Amino acid sequence: MAAAFITFEGIDGSGKSTQLRMLAGELAQRNLEVVTTREPGGTPLGARLRHALLDAEAEVDPLAELLLYAADRAQHVRTFIRPHLLAGRIVISDRYTDATVAYQGAGRGLPTNLINQVVQLATDGLRPDLTLIFDLGVEQGRLRQTRRTAHGANKADRLDMEDAAFHTRVREAYQEIARAEPERVRIIDAGGTIAETHLRVMRVVELFLAERKSGVGSQESE
Ligand code: TMP
Repeated sequence: MAAAFITFEGIDGSGKSTQLRMLAGELAQRNLEVVTTREPGGTPLGARLRHALLDAEAEVDPLAELLLYAADRAQHVRTFIRPHLLAGRIVISDRYTDATVAYQGAGRGLPTNLINQVVQLATDGLRPDLTLIFDLGVEQGRLRQTRRTAHGANKADRLDMEDAAFHTRVREAYQEIARAEPERVRIIDAGGTIAETHLRVMRVVELFLAERKSGVGSQESE
């Protein structure tokens, strides 16, 4: 099986992390070599950057924020993602560059050319083969986050605390990315149950893997 780089994206509360675990479990059962990871925080250095980035008490300037996500990603691409792809594995990452375009670009309003330059520098041009964007209403996402926080499953982080207008810009940016790159990006309706969303994910990923196997639409990861 050829290497593949798959990324999961979506607004906070979209349920993508649960779906990522379910997909990875399903692929591993089929004897595919899968590794899962996330941004920020996919490496030991990244875990420290994640802590700094998401600290609800911290004041972080937008440019500093962009560069910290980029530092996390440079370390991640060079020490984790590329080596696993070169070893022929399927790498599934919970967030990658589209999050920077959506959050720091549309959310914070940093200029597109700056975002593109920084993304290019951090990734050295490594792009996902397939990206799933988990889409649901901002209010629904907030409700899910609030419920999780109330159950102690996670704490509201610095970006969760942004207002609805911020999260609406992020959601719209993701939808725009999907329109602009239909070969790479698929929107997954994340408004239903976990099981329903999982079925939608499996349909898209099975098609993607079958196409890669037969060489239809296959692209190199690098
Ligand atoms: P998570 O809660 O999905 O793990 O993501 C952590 C937060 O970091 C989430 O609110 C989105 C944000 N983020 C950015 O703002 N820019 C980025 O480049 C990445 C990877 C994440």
